[in-house]
Amino acid sequence: MRPAASLILMVFVLQRISSGKSLKGMRLNVPRAVRAGHSVTLGCEYDLEDAPLYSVKWYRDNGEFYRYVPKEEPPTRVFPLPGLHVDVSVSNAHNVTLMSVGRNISGLFQCEVSADAPLFHTQMMSSPMTVAVVPVGVPTVSVDKAGLEHGRPLIADCNAPPSYPASNITLYVNDERVPAYTSEWITSVEDHLERKTGRLELSGVGGSWGTLRLRCEATLFRLYRAYSLEVEVRPDTPQPASVLLGPSNKGEKSAASTNRLFYLLLSLIAVRSRRC
Ligand SMILES: *[C@@H]1O[C@H](CO)[C@@H](O)[C@H](O)[C@H]1NC(C)=O
Ligand SMILES: *[C@@H]1O[C@H](CO)[C@@H](O)[C@H](O)[C@H]1NC(C)=O
Ligand SMILES: *[C@@H]1O[C@H](CO)[C@@H](O)[C@H](O)[C@H]1NC(C)=O
Repeated sequence: MRPAASLILMVFVLQRISSGKSLKGMRLNVPRAVRAGHSVTLGCEYDLEDAPLYSVKWYRDNGEFYRYVPKEEPPTRVFPLPGLHVDVSVSNAHNVTLMSVGRNISGLFQCEVSADAPLFHTQMMSSPMTVAVVPVGVPTVSVDKAGLEHGRPLIADCNAPPSYPASNITLYVNDERVPAYTSEWITSVEDHLERKTGRLELSGVGGSWGTLRLRCEATLFRLYRAYSLEVEVRPDTPQPASVLLGPSNKGEKSAASTNRLFYLLLSLIAVRSRRC
């Protein structure tokens, strides 16, 4: 090869290397959550810009479970991981389909794409996927107002039905979303399911508030959303109102807690003034 030609070739190769440092438009299509026992297709999009594909590898928490190498025969290889069953017949260079996913395969799913010569680039992306058990039924609100007449707070609990992982819950007072709970906890129930409870303590709830309507919402990722029935509370003794926010607010979070308290008071005051 003449020197000029090899120089041009080298410049060309260097340009390819610098312009193609990473694969263009790589994108993972991994759902945040999937129902246990269902099948799911994980997608990995990439643009090799005319370079040949060398391999696509899929990992769960660093354990490789699927490999696609077009030069090999057959191009697909599956590495068994318990609870993780690849449907080879519908898996290819972009998609891998898992059948009947087990509850314990939640984790970080990673796709690694490598280009063949002359680029040899490798890029990986990862995304978490949780195998979830969706609740049966709806959340419930229970109210204890027995303490009111002794000057103690009104206690409202929102109970989500059991799920895995624990559901997110949101309480509404007179249709206003309450931004925080006084306390919140998770109880383990049978079949390794979890039940979330959030408790709101409203002190000084009195007649001037009128009737309080309480409702709660439970969500599990995008797989489940349900509302409780609405519960009406008619307190009979008027008192100045305040809110007790509890031990979930500690340490460095105190500024945020002050904010939360402020917003909670604000939303409750808004509810009250609308009523007047
Ligand atoms: C998942 O559960 C199966 C039994 O159902 C067990 O054999 C396997 O080791 C578990 N896998 C992981 C990754 O914990
Ligand atoms: C990958 O799966 C998606 C959706 O499941 C589908 O639209 C796409 O055509 C599939 N691509 C290949 C190459 O199989
Ligand atoms: C709960 O909400 C948080 C914040 O929106 C979200 O990141 C998380 O995935 C949700 N968890 C569940 C189980 O829905």
